[in-house]
Order: sequence, then structure tokens, then C-alpha cells
Amino acid sequence: MLRIAQTLNGQLLAAMERAFPEAAEGARAAGQPLDPQLAPATKPEFGDFQANGALPLAKPLGQPPRTIATAIVAQLAADPAFAELCLEPQIAGPGFINLTLRPERLAAEVQLRLGDGRLGVPSVADDGGAPAPVIVDFSSPNIAKEMHVGHLRSTIIGDSLARVLEFRGHSVLRLNHVGDWGTQFGMLITHLKQVAPEALITADAVDLGDLVAFYRQAKQRFDDDEAFQTTSREEVVKLQGGDPISRRAWGLLCDQSRREFQTIYDRLDIRLSERGESFYNPYLEAVVADLDAAGLLVTDDGARCVFLEGVSGKDGKPLPVIVQKSDGGFNYATTDLAAIRYRFAPAPGGDGARRVIYVTDAGQANHFAGVFQVARRAGWIPPHGSVEHVPFGLVQGEDGKKLKTRAGDTVRLRDLLDEAVERAEADLRRRLAEEERSEDEAFIQHVATTVGLAAVKYADLSQNRTTNYQFSFDRMLALQGNTAPYLLYAVVRIAGIARKGGALAAAAAELHFTEPQEWALVRELLKLDGVIAEVEEELLPNRLCTYLFELSQVFNRFYDQVPVLKAEEPARASRLALCRLTADTLKLGLGLLGIPTLERM
Ligand code: ARG
Repeated sequence: MLRIAQTLNGQLLAAMERAFPEAAEGARAAGQPLDPQLAPATKPEFGDFQANGALPLAKPLGQPPRTIATAIVAQLAADPAFAELCLEPQIAGPGFINLTLRPERLAAEVQLRLGDGRLGVPSVADDGGAPAPVIVDFSSPNIAKEMHVGHLRSTIIGDSLARVLEFRGHSVLRLNHVGDWGTQFGMLITHLKQVAPEALITADAVDLGDLVAFYRQAKQRFDDDEAFQTTSREEVVKLQGGDPISRRAWGLLCDQSRREFQTIYDRLDIRLSERGESFYNPYLEAVVADLDAAGLLVTDDGARCVFLEGVSGKDGKPLPVIVQKSDGGFNYATTDLAAIRYRFAPAPGGDGARRVIYVTDAGQANHFAGVFQVARRAGWIPPHGSVEHVPFGLVQGEDGKKLKTRAGDTVRLRDLLDEAVERAEADLRRRLAEEERSEDEAFIQHVATTVGLAAVKYADLSQNRTTNYQFSFDRMLALQGNTAPYLLYAVVRIAGIARKGGALAAAAAELHFTEPQEWALVRELLKLDGVIAEVEEELLPNRLCTYLFELSQVFNRFYDQVPVLKAEEPARASRLALCRLTADTLKLGLGLLGIPTLERM
């Protein structure tokens, strides 16, 4: 309904200007043009929209707001385009104007969507905007360390945001900013040289589990043993200086982790371009030089840093972002500065991005705030460019504490996904037995895998990402409530209607609705474009989840209360058209969450 809302907004504004030309003139001169304050109606009985713009005019005009609303409505009545769009407006309360779209206009909107693969969601190309490169930096696990549930959240949320942006027509660069360059390599290589030298010269000599264990041992030694520390530091310098032996060892270690990460991405259908921290190594010196040239660099206790404006520590002194340590080494922040600089720089020496989105846990909020500020002051973010940190909360167990296995270890992602699928399979087998259905093994495996992985993704996406979320297999796999199985089931239900002779493919010649349940479904279906615009703007996938859940509920109410297959024509064809559009909307929406649908389950 975005386009209708825009049209209405224009009509309202014109009506206000005709009703109160002086006030409109004055408001424009004051740089505060009139605003109809158009918003979706808060309750269905108020119609489709309400316009509250009469209220703020009461004071400047010295008239009661209801009188103002009446004058606006009189002007609206004189606009034939408005009369074609809406029924007669109603004035409510102190002076709200309630607007109800004409039923035939709503039906026409449904008709348009039935023939449109984008279901009425405009693409940025249609909007006339050039598709601006958008970068989504997500997933980003660390080499030689296990990918943990935090990375899973980043992966699922980042993928969904990338899908929404892509669907809107943006050219999206999905970047995996893997941690492949830190001091961990110095320790790891030093340790492996002594305990498992083959890992440094042969591919696949150790698997990731071993690597993680070696890393833990190396870290321990690094903390306890000064000589080991020194050698490790030398090893990092060698690596970063391009020493061929170190580089080869590093390459092998990275490959090992990369393969492990890839199995997770494959299972979850995630596309990502790896561009790890090491990519920015050649640009780190330039970052420091640029900051120096901009007069931002201060040497403090041997370290080179930029002091943040408006951010101070406990002692009240401004906090620094360290860009070069006293030993000459660079760090996480330096790499992120180099990354911003590169991402906004025009091609070919950069990505020419307009919007860069970082999906990480909320614990990195200060890091990003600091990096963004320094980048802005250094002039690396163009005026039209935006950088956004998309933070998310912790994944907790059902006890509200950090998610752990029963034995108290960190949960491996592979195991977590396996368990979701196993439980989905057990649920399915139980249901099949209850319903006395027999299905072949391929069907069971396909449904269990789809439902299990969908449940994990949806449970994460349906939460407001900024809060911590409690991981519960039971809750995420429930057939009732705001869950993936509930939504998948709605799609399956509609596929069932089609199999029972519903012929959903053909669009109805003329749509004819009479029942309130039909109108409720029509209005719900027409919200899709607004919801997608909201997700694109606010980067909150849970908005889309809530919408799909509500749509499923409204659909189920419609289908439970209004006959479809047994209805007479033309109601039958019109209702089937609603079924089809509901299925298409759910499929599209779930697709944007990275969740494939099923025809049967
Ligand atoms: N590797 C980091 C971690 O595991 C996440 C990197 C996020 N992206 C970035 N540009 N800093 O926490």
C-alpha cells in the first residue's frame, strides 16, 4: 500500500493547502511545510488510514481542530481522484480524519499483485534511484577458532538483510570479514612448529577440532611463557612481512578452517565472499599516514592513537582508538579503518559503497562507534555514505545463561544444526504415525531437514535482534505460535487446496469480496511492500517475521470460517485468488528470511 499511501498523502496535502492557503504559505516560509500526518489506521473499524494533520494547525489558525478537519475533508470531497480512491472520510475524536479505501480499489490492488512476480514491492530501479552498492559485513568467524553461536546469529541475520536488500534491487556485496590475520597466527605457528610441524606443510594434516585444541594450548603457553611470547611475536612479524614459509603455513591453516565454515554455509544456503582481515594488510600503513596528515594522530605512551570526541572513560579523559601499538603492530581497529576506507573509496581502488552494514554482537558497539567516528573525521565516509552497526544480543540456554552443552562445553554449530534436524525428524515421524500416514524416507529426510534448519533460522530472526535470545528446540519446533513450522504449515495448507482442485494458478477475471474475513486478508496481503521498506530501513528482520505470522493467522481464520472450494462462483475464484496470493506472499517473505518452503509436510 506504499504507493496508495503516497498518493493519499499528496491529495491530503493539496486539500490542506487549498483549505488554508495562508497557513500553508507561512509554514513553507518557516521551513516547516504542512504535514497531513498520514498513518495506518490503529483499528480496522477506523478504516485503512488516519490523518492527524489538523491537530497541530489548531494553535496557529486559532480554530478548533475539528473545524479544521472539516475544512480539509470538504476540499478532499472536491478532488475527483480522491473520490475514486476513498469512501467518504470520517472525522473522529478531536479531529482525526479516518480514511477507508474503496473496496474496488483494494480488489484492484490484489489483482495487480496476482500478476506480478514482485507482489507489488517496488525495486530501487523503478524508484528511479541508481542501485547503490550496499555492503553487508556478516558471519565473519575467526580462523583456527571454532565458529560459535554468535557467528551463527550474525550469519542468519546478515543473510536475511542481504536478501531483503537484493530483492529491493540493490547491488549487495556480502563480505565475510574473517579474522585471519591476528596475533593468533604467531602463537599457533610457533606451537605447531614444535608439536605438529606436518600441519604447516601438508594440507589436511589436522582437522579443525585439532586446530582449535592446538590454538588453546598455544594461547596457554603464550600467557605463561615469555620466550614463547617473543618467538610468537617474531612469527607474526614474519608472516605480516610476507615470509614465504610462514605464508604457506598460514594458507594451510586458513584453508582448513574455511572448509569447515563452508559446510555450515552450504547447509544454511548462505552465499558469502570471503575478504578477511589480511586483505587490508597492504592498506594499514596508509591508514596511519592519512590520520597523521589529517592531524588526528597522537602518540600516547608509544602507541599511536586518535582520541574520540564525546566519548570518555571512567576517569573522564577522552578514550583513544589505538591504530598502531608501541611495538609497531596494527590491530582489529586499524583493519576496520582500512576496510571502511577501502569500501567507500571509488572503484577500482575500492568498492564505491554507499551503505556499509556490520552485523555483530552488541558487545562490539563501542568498537564500531569509535571506528566510525575516526573514519568520518578522516573524511573517508562520503557525505551520502552511511555506516551502520547492526548489533544483536547473546544466545542463551533455556536457563538464561550462556548456551552450553550438557557437559558444559561450548556448543558446536554442526551439532546444533544436527540436533534441530533430528528433533524435527522425530516430531515428523510421531505425527505421521498419529495420522496413520506412510511416507518414503526421502520425503521424511527432506521435510525434517527443511523444518529443522528453518526452525533455527526463524527462531533467531523472529526475535528483536537487539535483545538476548533463549535458544529452545522445543519452542522453535512447535507447530503453534510464531514459529517456522506454523508458517510452513500455512503454505502447505494452501498447496493442499490447490491439490484438491483449487487451480490456484489462474488469476480470477474479476475479484469479488463480501466477507469481513476476506477483507481482513486483503488488507493484510497489501501490507507487504510497507513491511519490506521498513526492514530495508531499520534492518530488523523480526518485522518481516511478525508480518508473516500475522498473515498466516489472518489466512487461517479466513480459511476456517469461509468456504473456499465449496463456495459458489464468483466467490470461489476470488477466494482461491486470495489463497494463491497468500501462498506467494509467504513464500516470498520466507525466502527473504532464507527459508525455503514445502508443498507437503
Ligand atoms: N571476527 C570478528 C568476531 O569474531 C567479527 C568481525 C566483524 N566485522 C568487522 N568488520 N569487524 O567477533
